Amino acid sequence: MDNRSIGVFDSGLGGLTAVKQIMQELPEENIVYFGDTGRVPYGTRSRETIIKYSKNDVNFLLSENVKVIVIACGTVSSVAISALKEEYDVPIIGVVEATAAAALSASKNGKIGIIGTPGTIKSGSYERLLKEKKPQIKTFARACPLYVPLVENGHFETKVSELVTEEYLEEIREKGVDTLILGCTHYPLLKKTIARYMGDEVTLIDAGAEVARALKAYLDENGLHSAKRDKQQYRYFVSDNVDGFENLGGLFLEKKIDGQVEKIDIEKY
Ligand code: DGL
Repeated sequence: MDNRSIGVFDSGLGGLTAVKQIMQELPEENIVYFGDTGRVPYGTRSRETIIKYSKNDVNFLLSENVKVIVIACGTVSSVAISALKEEYDVPIIGVVEATAAAALSASKNGKIGIIGTPGTIKSGSYERLLKEKKPQIKTFARACPLYVPLVENGHFETKVSELVTEEYLEEIREKGVDTLILGCTHYPLLKKTIARYMGDEVTLIDAGAEVARALKAYLDENGLHSAKRDKQQYRYFVSDNVDGFENLGGLFLEKKIDGQVEKIDIEKY
């Protein structure tokens, strides 16, 4: 048993899609969330910068005495996880491993599509892992840089998001994938539009849901669950204005943010 909080971080507010899944999967746990809203996006930055920023993020969560750190960000999980695991003793769980495993078990025809930020796709993280586990698997990857700003501006099911989806996913759809990895925090909000375009026969894999399941399995295996509580504590930290956090953050979390929100100076960590 371990009553300390779970630490979750992301480049911004998108990681709240994973927090939502963690709250559902592990309702007894306290959560500390850090969203690097002052330095978002990470998805278009260099490896060095992503590693530097994510070390600040981990250092901050460690200062909050968390028992495990979840990287909700697809880009950090793809680009920086080995550097972070090398440097820190705290258990760190990224989205890639669990999501790749879920895609492998979902795919019947061995054709898997992967979408994410330019950083995630350039890293080849998903292809590497999928092919390591099943060499005959065929992968089709595509960076979708417009999806993040679209979601942040409320375009979930609009003509614009439909047009962009067609532009990004046409080739992957034509390849006949039966499984598509949504490898970015923001994509669950576009799920309906993407599902409509890809068709019923394609399974969409949500990285946030998979990392929540992986976290639960990790807590089970290591006896690290919290004792049952009457009320959990959710605390949110950001590196830019807290104004607007409740609105945009509430969209990602798909419920009202009813926890404490605080701004911190992340560069100090
Ligand atoms: N959180 C990022 C990810 O999942 C998307 C936003 C960004 O580029 O920072 O890759």
